[in-house]
Amino acid sequence: MKIKDSVFIVTGGSSGIGKALAALLKEKGGKVVITGRDALKLEKVSKEIGVEGHLAHMTSDEDLQKLVDSVMNQFGRVDCLINNAGIGEFAPVDDLNRAAFQRIFETNVFGAAILTSKLISAFKSQNYGNIVNIGSSASVKGFANGSVYSASKFALRAMSECWRTELRPHNIRVMHVNPSEVTTAFNKQDRIEREEKDNKLRPFDLAFSIVAALELDDRAFIPEFGVWATNPF
Ligand SMILES: NC(=O)c1ccc[n+]([C@@H]2O[C@H](COP(=O)([O-])OP(=O)(O)OC[C@H]3O[C@@H](n4cnc5c(N)ncnc54)[C@H](OP(=O)(O)O)[C@@H]3O)[C@@H](O)[C@H]2O)c1
Repeated sequence: MKIKDSVFIVTGGSSGIGKALAALLKEKGGKVVITGRDALKLEKVSKEIGVEGHLAHMTSDEDLQKLVDSVMNQFGRVDCLINNAGIGEFAPVDDLNRAAFQRIFETNVFGAAILTSKLISAFKSQNYGNIVNIGSSASVKGFANGSVYSASKFALRAMSECWRTELRPHNIRVMHVNPSEVTTAFNKQDRIEREEKDNKLRPFDLAFSIVAALELDDRAFIPEFGVWATNPF
C-alpha cells in the first residue's frame, strides 16, 4: 500500500510502539488517528507528532463506535487499522483469578475484536483494507507467570488467522506482528516510558518493520512476523 494519503487508526497511539508507528506513518504522509485512554497524554502526544487524537477506551463499545463514526465522517474511508493497544498482568498459576483474565481480555482481545468488527463493512465496501494485530512473542510461546497475558495474545493470534481467511477474498490484508521485549511503558504502573538501551528493541524498530510490511504492493502481504533484538542478554 502507499502510506501517503491513506487513513490509519492506531489504537494505543499515545505511547510506545503505537506512538512510534503513528509518527512514522505521519512522516510518510499518512492521515493518522491515534487512540488512548488518558485525555491529557493523548492531547500532548497528538500535538507532538501532528496526528489526530481520539479518546477511546478499548473496553467501551460506545467509545469504539464513536471512533469509527468520527473517522468515517472526517475521511469517508479507512485504509488500515492497527490493533496495538494492549496491557499485561503477570502471576504464577497458583494466583490466577477470573478478574485478571477479564481485565486483560477486555482490552487485548474483546476490544480489538469489536473495533475490527465495526470497521469491516467500510473495508468490504471499499473492497480494500489492512489490519495489523500487534501480538507478542507471547502469541506463540508461553512462559512462567504469563498465563493471562500469553492466553490473550494467543487468542489475538487465533483471530488474526480467522480474519485473514475470511477477508482475503475482499482484498483485506490481515497481518500479525510478534515483538519480543521493547523498551516502552508496557506493564509500568507510572506509565513512564523505559529508557532506550543499545541492545534492546526500540519502539522505532517495530514501527520501521510494520511500515515496511505495509508498503509491500497490495497484491502481497506478510501474514505474520516476529521482531527480535539481536543480542538482548
Ligand atoms: N513492550 C513490549 O515489550 C511488548 C512486547 C510484545 C508485545 N507488546 C505489545 O505491543 C502493544 C503496545 O505496547 P507498548 O509496549 O507500546 O506499551 P505502552 O507503552 O504501555 O502503550 C500501550 C498503549 O495502549 C493504550 N491502552 C492500553 N489499554 C488501553 C485501553 N483499555 N483503552 C485504550 N487504550 C489503551 C495505552 O494508553 P495510555 O497511554 O492512555 O495508558 C498506550 O497508548 C501491546 O499490545 C503490547 O501487548 C509489547
